[in-house]
Amino acid sequence: MSPTRRVVLAVVATAIAGGAFFACRTVPATTLVGSDAASKVYVPPGSYDEFYSFMSGGFSGQVAVYGLPSGRLLKVIPVFSQNPENGYGYNEESKAMLQTTFGSIPWDDSHHPELSMTDGVPDGRWLFINANNTPRVARIDLTRFETDEILQIPNAAGGHASPFTTPDGKYIVSATRFSVPIPNTDVPIESYKQNFKGTLSFITADQPGKMDIAFQILMPGYDYDLGHAGKGPSDGWFFFTTYNTEQANTKLEENASKNDKDYVAAVNYKKAAACVAEGKAKTFPSEYDHNYTDPKSRIATVEKKTSVKLLSPADCEGVAYYLPTPKSPHGVDIDPTGEYIVASGKLATVIPVHSFTKMQKAIADKAFEKTVDGIPVLKYESVLAGEVQKPGLGPLHTEFDGKGYAYTSMFISSEVVKWKLGTWEVVDRIPTYYSIGHLMIPGGDTKKPFGKYLVAMNKITKDRYLPTGPEMAQSAQLYDISGDKMKLLLDFPTIGEPHYAQAIPASLIKDKQVKFHSLAENKNPDAIRSESEGRITRNGKRVDIRMIAIRSHFAPDNIEGVQLGDTVYFHVTNIEQDWDILHGFAILGANTSELILQPGETRTMKWIPTRAGIYPFYCTDFCSALHQEMQGYLRVSPAGTTVALSANVSKKAQQQISAPAKAR
Ligand code: CUA
Repeated sequence: MSPTRRVVLAVVATAIAGGAFFACRTVPATTLVGSDAASKVYVPPGSYDEFYSFMSGGFSGQVAVYGLPSGRLLKVIPVFSQNPENGYGYNEESKAMLQTTFGSIPWDDSHHPELSMTDGVPDGRWLFINANNTPRVARIDLTRFETDEILQIPNAAGGHASPFTTPDGKYIVSATRFSVPIPNTDVPIESYKQNFKGTLSFITADQPGKMDIAFQILMPGYDYDLGHAGKGPSDGWFFFTTYNTEQANTKLEENASKNDKDYVAAVNYKKAAACVAEGKAKTFPSEYDHNYTDPKSRIATVEKKTSVKLLSPADCEGVAYYLPTPKSPHGVDIDPTGEYIVASGKLATVIPVHSFTKMQKAIADKAFEKTVDGIPVLKYESVLAGEVQKPGLGPLHTEFDGKGYAYTSMFISSEVVKWKLGTWEVVDRIPTYYSIGHLMIPGGDTKKPFGKYLVAMNKITKDRYLPTGPEMAQSAQLYDISGDKMKLLLDFPTIGEPHYAQAIPASLIKDKQVKFHSLAENKNPDAIRSESEGRITRNGKRVDIRMIAIRSHFAPDNIEGVQLGDTVYFHVTNIEQDWDILHGFAILGANTSELILQPGETRTMKWIPTRAGIYPFYCTDFCSALHQEMQGYLRVSPAGTTVALSANVSKKAQQQISAPAKAR
């Protein structure tokens, strides 16, 4: 063990073991907040925040939307996890969104929100996010703040380096965290070095409903951790960090920390695309699911995919290079000019910055240390632009303010460090409470950062809020970075784990919002558009009830003739055509969530009654003064009953049916 490594590991061990580490940070906390902090985060009642901030829910599998600078929670968008609050993943229309080749999965771990880009700047159209456990990527439409599309990633496990986008918005990526046998077959775990491989997936993402894997690049069996696209001069390249270049398969905390340097993989994806077009990739049998919600019917369907194009670097010369980087690097971040590649080694004592210009020269000069599986390893000195000395401990992630400064999160020393690009000097540092993971500056990974604020996403909360038992909400902190010195403005708790976030000026999104779904354009085959269309039908043991919801009743609201052994489908259409007027639907004993119905939308609940009797149903979303009157009854009779199948419409509806010209 080298002396440097021994010191670093000792510091890590001490920091992790020491509760004292957190305690010693708590004393000066409040004194660091300037007296003007309150006015800088105060958004008066009825006023709007300046930024939308999209924070991943981490192990909640969702995305939460906060306003900045207030830190107010605006919405939770379900993505990879069922959400009883609005029925996502429970109602019949959205169930297919959670389908995979492993069956329906009600949960995942969502890590990295990524705003869609045009010309290297966020355009406010979509938000992408990855599933970390069963690799998937999702697209959220930012006119509705809803998940419309999910693509499964085959030949991968742990889709962590994802879903970072290219500046032109053509691709998003997903790199495998865990290398696995490809195809994934029954082999001894000890055969890791022979049998386990990694893949880098490039996913076409520029057209809604058409996400697909353009190609996968087969890589050595390391762990691939994070990635970012080049931009400007480095446009066309993608950079991924690796760790476990030792290729250990057990006790990684020790066995994957042995090499002094791991690698940043530099991938020329335009060259890769050209090689694929020239037929240099194999068509590789691979089963994966593509789930898409049609915006008109709002029904999700699953498309089964059967193969990918798999490219081996040995068959496409110049497609990939390795840049040696100390020491188990985590984040890899490209500065706004596209020249600097900042790679933060979790256990490194410096932050190394690679130069894209020097990398190009090293490739031309063939300044290679060696070649791994057809991938040349460039010499560290030949690609290094500089090192940030004594930045702190445990550098993880870097974002930029567009004014020539970089901000790096330091997990172990629990601080943000500001340093200058080009001179590599540290110019400011500020503590975080506690143990910062990602940090985020609005647009801070793009060509034109919006700057102004920095959000720290902390892994440990401890004493920052009123205690709530052993488990605390997660802690985000907002800093003002408009001046020379960073200033702490606000703590705000977040749901799930705010793993990473992105933010965009509200002006780019807020005026494009859908306010209701047009009933006339509702393409759900079970939609009805008026009370008079309400009806009940039987086909064998299947009963379909088509029902409307409007302030403040359902029609029909008295249903009889359902028998034990039947499967009942309630198709409820909210026929309101007004912003933010939602209804809900729930029935006694249903073993699923409620339905929540946006205005103009149809949702379906499947229900199998288990005993005869009377089953009340009601509206769950407080919609009007007579919300509590918005209820009905369904009668279930024994199998073979003579009770006729019937469904009324309400008295009010009957009057409307007899006098349809009368406006509601
Ligand atoms: Cu409809 Cu409450």
